[in-house]
Amino acid sequence: MIKFNIPPCTGKENEYIAQAIASHKICGDGEFTKKCNEWIESHTRTSKALLTTSCTHATEMAALLCDIQPGDEVIMPSYTFVSTANAFVLNGATVVFVDIRPDTLNIDENLIEEAVTPKTKAIVPVHYAGVSCEMDKIMEIARQHNLKVIEDAAQGVMSEYKGRPLGTIGNFGCFSFHETKNYSMGEGGCLLIRDKEMIEKAEIIREKGTNRSKFFRGQVDKYTWVSAGSSYLPSELNAAYLFAQLEQAQTIFDDRMKSWTLYYELLSPLKEAGKISLPVVPDNCKHNAHMFYIKATDLKERTALIEYLRRQDIYSVFHYIPLHSAPAGKQYARFCGQDIYTTKESERLLRLPMYYGLKSEDVYFVCEKIIQFYQ
Ligand SMILES: Cc1ncc(COP(=O)(O)O)c(C=O)c1O
Repeated sequence: MIKFNIPPCTGKENEYIAQAIASHKICGDGEFTKKCNEWIESHTRTSKALLTTSCTHATEMAALLCDIQPGDEVIMPSYTFVSTANAFVLNGATVVFVDIRPDTLNIDENLIEEAVTPKTKAIVPVHYAGVSCEMDKIMEIARQHNLKVIEDAAQGVMSEYKGRPLGTIGNFGCFSFHETKNYSMGEGGCLLIRDKEMIEKAEIIREKGTNRSKFFRGQVDKYTWVSAGSSYLPSELNAAYLFAQLEQAQTIFDDRMKSWTLYYELLSPLKEAGKISLPVVPDNCKHNAHMFYIKATDLKERTALIEYLRRQDIYSVFHYIPLHSAPAGKQYARFCGQDIYTTKESERLLRLPMYYGLKSEDVYFVCEKIIQFYQ
């Protein structure tokens, strides 16, 4: 059987978790959390990285830090995970969807400006499959209209746009370390903060609305409730698991890239024959091989292909159902302009098995079966 995903494990996870247990510090913000934060800060060159319990929670923190209020509008693609929208809906905002580009499946940067109204507060680009959105254009629109930019880089750890790590370009960036991601802690995430003046406020929101982080640094002699907040910091046990992988980040990256490149090579003849589409990575983007997808002709063909592969014990999956077609999407959001590509492309897309440690022979087998299907 070829599974769709196997969570990454590089070897030192058990040892580090045992160290955390032996240190009698298993709640949040111990040594492993600090190490993870520092690793992310040094590898992304961002002002501050704060490990969180999920990317969902990192995005909720960003919404609070942007002071999203009832009636505000937030622009994003409909082709994304529910958390991208929920973080803002929880604060009473209306989500405004714009269509995606058919090549990268990212928000179409040329349609964003049309969606801006006097109520718009933020833009949330989602870097699908770890391939960057067109950030120069998005940042320019944000500058002109005085909007915040929150990058949903759930899938974009170790990816770059024009040499800049994803998650560090907008005001805030949100990473996911869920078990389906390149680097994992089971459930977890990280908030990247670009502007130094937001760091203290973020630390307070993450620590239940208290200044406990300042207290631990010895900057205040007791900690107290200073604002609204919640509990967004993960346990040391999860951070210990993650740190083992961050230490091996390049090894994981190279291994996934090897599988991605092999898929691309083996499936190129089908693309040349016009049977399927393959992922597009613009020249100015360095991606992280988070996902390998193909696009079939339509929903019917994709459904048949999933079924065909399943019969060979190969597990492939489709991805997001566009949010504007969901019940909550109808309640909390509107679509600006026409849905030309969002639904159509989402119905064609099929994700192939991809994980750290995927064997080349398995990639060959999957591709052979896809080629057979099209014969
Ligand atoms: C684009 C996007 N944003 C946010 C999330 C939520 O991540 P998490 O599970 O870490 O909360 C996901 C999850 O897959 C995602 O794909």
